[in-house]
Amino acid sequence: MNALPNKLRLAERMSRLGTEGAFDTLVRARQLEAQGREIVHLEIGEPDFPTAGHIVEAAAAALREGWTHYSPPGGLPELQKAVAEDAGRRRGIAVDPSEVVITPGAKPILFYVILALVEPGDEVLCPDPGFPIYESMVRFVEARPVPYGLPEERDFEIDVGEMLAKITDRTRLIILNSPHNPTGGAIGRAQLERLAGGLAGRDIFVLSDEIYHRLIYDGEHASLAQLPGWKERTIILDGFSKAYAMTGWRLGYGVMRADLAEQVGRLIVNSHSCTASFTQMAGVAALRGDQSAVSSMLAEFRRRRAVMVEGLNRIPGFRCRWPRGAFYAFPNITGTGLSSRALADALLHEAGVACLPGTAFGRGGEGYLRFSYANSVENIEEALRRTARWIEARLSP
Ligand SMILES: Cc1ncc(COP(=O)(O)O)c(C=O)c1O
Repeated sequence: MNALPNKLRLAERMSRLGTEGAFDTLVRARQLEAQGREIVHLEIGEPDFPTAGHIVEAAAAALREGWTHYSPPGGLPELQKAVAEDAGRRRGIAVDPSEVVITPGAKPILFYVILALVEPGDEVLCPDPGFPIYESMVRFVEARPVPYGLPEERDFEIDVGEMLAKITDRTRLIILNSPHNPTGGAIGRAQLERLAGGLAGRDIFVLSDEIYHRLIYDGEHASLAQLPGWKERTIILDGFSKAYAMTGWRLGYGVMRADLAEQVGRLIVNSHSCTASFTQMAGVAALRGDQSAVSSMLAEFRRRRAVMVEGLNRIPGFRCRWPRGAFYAFPNITGTGLSSRALADALLHEAGVACLPGTAFGRGGEGYLRFSYANSVENIEEALRRTARWIEARLSP
């Protein structure tokens, strides 16, 4: 008989990995639904639109044509070329296909770049609130996440002065995310220029998460990679999930200097080998084909943003800025007297509205909730009605 204990003994590093609150809340909401409750889902960050027909057709054709084999680890040359042209043209920079790495979703770019560049004990500046995977990955490699804020009074644009004050000799990487999840804030060119000036002469890389850059409502998207000398120090993370409503396809990419791209390719060979070939062919069709689905999605998000922000601002104790990009509203809820977690839990269990506490994105998210408006206007209005009703009952004497 085997006398070994049955308890799973995990490697210590697993204790440093975090998770994503949106998935946890989705699981809890689904459990409530299984018990017969009716929940409005405003927790998950994915467009509710179908992928455009011509992209689906391209994938089906690719399957029929035999794009069913391994691709090179860094991606099919066809897609690397299409990404280089598209990513370069949209930002006004020259990108060579050798600087493009294709991955199953954009998330692995984070994983691999941090593994490739960050040593134990290094410091990495991460937005707080911010996408939770940044901090999780930084801790995983035994580095130290150094949080920087996104002040509400600046419409959640970074405060470069604060950021520069946090740079030390151990700073190895800065993570920027614009448009930003969860606040909807965006970084303008002036702040990027200030940042570049402050970082001059330092051996620091910037990972610029631009996954929402096609979803911007006011002004133009700005990328650090556009500033002279910064393309070589910037890793652009981008992909198809949000812009083309392709979250489940798992297709993303990074744009980075060719020598780093080669090293990321080595990590890919050691892990997922390559991204599905027929999916990559669909990616070529997405980038080269008709872009009208992207513009109509943006127009619809703009309409929903207005319903969401105006509705939230009518709820007692809530105060909501206008997000400049992405599809999240991030109201300040301190006026309700409740913590983010307590309010998010109560809305889920008592009002049937699934949203996320700001703290799912770090300590800096206390006092806020994140509502995704990637849902129909009817559902958004229903969620707002339920939230307002719950708050009014709770706050009335
Ligand atoms: C800020 C941010 N970066 C990256 C990703 C990952 O995108 P993908 O689904 O392509 O892996 C997300 C997805 O929610 C995100 O919000």
